[in-house]
Amino acid sequence: MCGIVAAAARREVSEILLEGLRRLEYRGYDSAGMALIDNEHNLQLHKQQGKVCELEKAQKLHPHLGCTGIAHTRWATHGEPSGVNAHPHISGQRIALVHNGIIENHAILRKELCAAGYEFSSATDTEVIVHMLHQYLESGRSLLAAMQETVDRLEGAYAVAAVDVVHPDQVVAARKGSPLVVGIGIGENFLASDQLALRQVTDRFIYLEEGDVVEISPSSLQIYDASGAPVERKRSLISEAVEVADLGGFDHYMLKEIHEQPRALAATFAQAADHPVIDDCFGAGAAEVFDKVKGVQIVACGTSFHAGMVARYWLEELAGIPCQVEVASEFRYRKRVTHANTLLVTISQSGETADSLAALRNAGDGEFAASLVISNVANSSLVRDSDLVFLTRAGMEIGVASTKAFTTQLVALLMLTYALGRRASMTEKKQQEIIAALKDLPDYVQQTLELNDEIEQLSESFIPKHHALFLGRGIQYPIAMEGALKLKEISYIHAEAYPAGELKHGPLALVDDDMPVVAVAPSDDLLEKLKSNLEEVRSRGGELFVFADSKAGFSSEARVKVLDMPHCPEVIKPIVYTVALQLLSYHVALQKGTDVDKPRNLAKSVTVE
Ligand code: M6R
Repeated sequence: MCGIVAAAARREVSEILLEGLRRLEYRGYDSAGMALIDNEHNLQLHKQQGKVCELEKAQKLHPHLGCTGIAHTRWATHGEPSGVNAHPHISGQRIALVHNGIIENHAILRKELCAAGYEFSSATDTEVIVHMLHQYLESGRSLLAAMQETVDRLEGAYAVAAVDVVHPDQVVAARKGSPLVVGIGIGENFLASDQLALRQVTDRFIYLEEGDVVEISPSSLQIYDASGAPVERKRSLISEAVEVADLGGFDHYMLKEIHEQPRALAATFAQAADHPVIDDCFGAGAAEVFDKVKGVQIVACGTSFHAGMVARYWLEELAGIPCQVEVASEFRYRKRVTHANTLLVTISQSGETADSLAALRNAGDGEFAASLVISNVANSSLVRDSDLVFLTRAGMEIGVASTKAFTTQLVALLMLTYALGRRASMTEKKQQEIIAALKDLPDYVQQTLELNDEIEQLSESFIPKHHALFLGRGIQYPIAMEGALKLKEISYIHAEAYPAGELKHGPLALVDDDMPVVAVAPSDDLLEKLKSNLEEVRSRGGELFVFADSKAGFSSEARVKVLDMPHCPEVIKPIVYTVALQLLSYHVALQKGTDVDKPRNLAKSVTVE
């Protein structure tokens, strides 16, 4: 998704800006640009469709130098990916501006600005911001006042940063709904949409709050709150080592991340051993909150939503706690009836997903007993805004398709089930089973990874297909959903998941000899029901790909291929089976030649609505 980097220094900053953009690349984008104020106080601009390396080439060919600058990676929302629509946008050869987010009232503002004589060159919502800023500046406002008045007129979400040739050593910026962080240097200051971009130059950061406007120069840094009053915000020292994005001998980050799961799962669960009681893994005060919790509302998007769906089975069946799960983009706009003492749980790998963040922020006063976030990114917006926090230990996830983040979220959710279940109807025996299963989980995942070659062979059948159905029952239904999401996301094969019992209510009409059907079929209480559903598929000529353990009693035959999964404890089957489906998608995508780590049209961190 879009990324911002900005610098006000006494040294030349083009390489700092480019390196910042490189560090944000994994999030997904389609164009990149950079504007610098040179020694003669002129704006110098490079921007184009394509990757940051293209921008670097342009910079090598026609170097632009300056000590003040802004840079951007754009993920198109308004206007196609193109050089013209790429940021920075310019007004009157005076201002350059970059923007993350979406301006909802851009059409009205565009009309007003056109009437005032501004000409628009792009199809973006962003261009209204730069012209409005210019208009306020030309009417005599200071850079700060012009930015404050501009953002006052904006509806929607934004993080913006701008430079002005009349104030050549300053960058002014603002945020609401999209993240922005100040990086504090010595004799220089920086801004970025993620601290990762600035770890090359500093370890001292200030996370801006909603409505903040900030002005930086090499020697000064002043933040103003939404009312315009100067404020001091907390400074954070982030000293832990930055993980270096490195393929470590794998062909793709996705494959590397799939293989990192035994370690990531063990590290996530190991937090339990670091604390006297498991409750403490969820942050200070968790025990008191958990004592009063009578129900759970989970809100998330995409893969994280699937983790929530799995957790509902665990919380209701194992802990006896009522649980609702909803996608954040629906939850945030729905009038709700919430029972007393409900815990709001958001799940987000990035901690920056706009819909999940809005869902948390839109929760009514006193509607929930408390909020808990399960996230992979410390210091992310969701982490900063939640009462309780569980940090998964997946390590940085680069592949757009979420793999280790999902399975570590499931570990966190099983730990939550345990923590709440102990206070509800969970037996001592069940508690011990959960802990033992979590300890053994990395081994079962490792055994599944060793099925790689068999899974690769299965994947060949999917290459010529355009559609696939994934089936599961009970807790395996969300795993079927996750399998279908992985396949469509990276191989571009249309894939849907159904609870197998629903087949005869419609989707069975799709089944013919051209429709591969993947069944998540471990031996469990619903196995016999699932087998009947699979017979319905077979008798209509469908080709079955069954992921099952030996106890389930399937065997490969004509038009039925069985992958022999390890037999593992019931409670962790959703996690173990997920890994096999991740490998299936990976191999299909690989053979189809898609961009596995950066599938088309998608972004790693979805910071717009
Ligand atoms: O960072 P989040 O977990 O909040 O992201 C939510 C979804 O955008 C994400 O899980 C998405 O569905 C993945 N790309 C799926 O692999």
